[in-house]
Amino acid sequence: MSLPSRKAAGPEARSFLEEAMPGAPAFPSTRMRRARQAPWIRNLVAENRLGVDDLVWAGFVVEGTGRREPIPSMPGVVRYSVDELAAEAQELAGLGVNALAVFPAHRPEEKDAQGSLATDPDNLICRAVRAVKKAAPLAGVICDVALDPFTSHAHDGLFRDGRILNDETVDILCRQAVVQAGAGCDVIAPSDMMDGRVGAVRRALDAAGRTDVLILSYAAKYASCYYGPFRDALHNRGRLKGDKKTYQMDPANAGEALREVALDIAEGADMVMVKPALPYLDILRKVKDTFNMPTFAYQVSGEYAMLTAAMEAGWLDARAMAETLLCLKRGGADAILTYAAKPVAAALKAG
Ligand code: PBG
Repeated sequence: MSLPSRKAAGPEARSFLEEAMPGAPAFPSTRMRRARQAPWIRNLVAENRLGVDDLVWAGFVVEGTGRREPIPSMPGVVRYSVDELAAEAQELAGLGVNALAVFPAHRPEEKDAQGSLATDPDNLICRAVRAVKKAAPLAGVICDVALDPFTSHAHDGLFRDGRILNDETVDILCRQAVVQAGAGCDVIAPSDMMDGRVGAVRRALDAAGRTDVLILSYAAKYASCYYGPFRDALHNRGRLKGDKKTYQMDPANAGEALREVALDIAEGADMVMVKPALPYLDILRKVKDTFNMPTFAYQVSGEYAMLTAAMEAGWLDARAMAETLLCLKRGGADAILTYAAKPVAAALKAG
């Protein structure tokens, strides 16, 4: 049998090889499978790795005690009461997960048009932050800044006569950020997509003496169907008046994401985020390459639901979750928010 020589390769392939590996021989001298033949060599040549330090646990807190309420559209995810959340934070610390993004899940009767609870220093999320910091002192706590857990119309901002009021919303977000920082929150994560909010929140935190509080900006956040299960978790499904397309980005756009990220960096973001993650891998790569900032990816509720449903049905191997998270790292993520942090950390620990 005659093996194809390098000369037999098409001109494009040859010029690619010349450029990528000048003077390097092609098959049969080169055999890519050599470096894949056993785990020891595969591990040595691995370009990316998923570690427990890459994971940010994402989850929900509710009023009450001793509660763990399942969320049907997010199998395996529950809403924890504050005491249970504190216990979970300790378990996570034992697994090496030291960053938690906590979202308050309020009952509809606790919400109003202004999202008044957002700025109450003794609200659910502030009590949750204090409890987590006490239970797991080495853990960093991340809180969203946005009004949707608190508003009866489920929008992230003030909503009047069918419009979102940008600047009025930003004023409230600043107060929300200061209140959360006061409770001990380490990272403020504006997820609302109002214009100018990162700069305003930075100034408000600094003015309150919270110069050490980090800002993780949801810089490229898209108006996505993949947030559906999250809205179930917050009791917001079906309550949203209209949609979020006047503030969250159009999934069609990539160049616009770079402008959003550039603005948030200029306003003082310490880290930037791309959300959702998996369908937006191209955005993640562009953001990382363009700005070289600490770049986070948010594997959102719909991504979690999609993978978990297929794994539970036996259609996908359970390792699909960790594979997906590794792919996000390869795509440019320095860290990943995920509802699967605990099982993935346990699997990583087991080796
Ligand atoms: C709120 C917020 C949302 C998510 C995180 N923060 C929902 C939304 O914007 O509608 C979605 C997270 C997920 O789906 O897991 N501003």
